[in-house]
Amino acid sequence: MMEEDKNLKTQINELRIEEIDELREIAKPFISLMMEFRCALMEIETKLNVLNSEFALTHNRNPIQTIKTRLKQPASILEKISRKGLDVTIEAMEENLADIAGVRVICSFPEDIYAVADMMLHQDDLRMLEIKDYIKNPKPNGYRSLHLIMEVPIFLSSGKKFRKVEVQFRTIAMDFWASLEHQLRYKKNLENAEEICRELKECADVITSVDYRMQELRGKIEYADEEDC
Ligand code: GTP
Ligand code: MG
Repeated sequence: MMEEDKNLKTQINELRIEEIDELREIAKPFISLMMEFRCALMEIETKLNVLNSEFALTHNRNPIQTIKTRLKQPASILEKISRKGLDVTIEAMEENLADIAGVRVICSFPEDIYAVADMMLHQDDLRMLEIKDYIKNPKPNGYRSLHLIMEVPIFLSSGKKFRKVEVQFRTIAMDFWASLEHQLRYKKNLENAEEICRELKECADVITSVDYRMQELRGKIEYADEEDC
């Protein structure tokens, strides 16, 4: 699911007035930067599709259920840059924002997450910058996902450049949980917020236990298949 490639004019037209004001000085390099991040997303999506195809052939199933890519909106980039107390410059964005290009990889089972992530870790054209394993070390609210922050080479007419991409790996169940929990952040005057957080944490623990039970069952079913053949 790739974002449509848009030309420079369309992208400038789509910027809101306030964004144009803030980006006036750097509008053209900003659009180029976004194009480069879009290319980095394409590279990663292709790599994941290649791994999924090969794994399907060797293991007879797809470890990846869905790949979602997204580019951070200009307004969110500006908000994060100002929240970090930085100047609105291309350099500040390149240096300090690791999630302008984001990929979400949804797998059925926890072990598939580590299998695919490990295959990416062994690709020598990628520079791995950071690994945050919120599956082994969940956040206090119950959030679980594996995040890889990497630099991806893209090949432009002027030569090779590296661009940062944040890849989040989750199971279907973890994604289901994170989508609902994410909505909490946008609710200001929520009644029973404490109770909801407690229940969400409980659900995260139940989901984890189901994820691993399903994985065990999958193992047994696969084993049974092999015996029958
Ligand atoms: P930012 O949160 O992006 O400023 O970066 P960070 O350095 O705090 O990284 P972190 O790994 O905590 O979060 C990166 C991304 O992971 C977020 O933008 C979300 O997409 C996702 N994420 C992290 N924590 C949570 C959480 O508690 N709930 C949900 N729903 N998503 C989360
Ligand atoms: Mg955070």
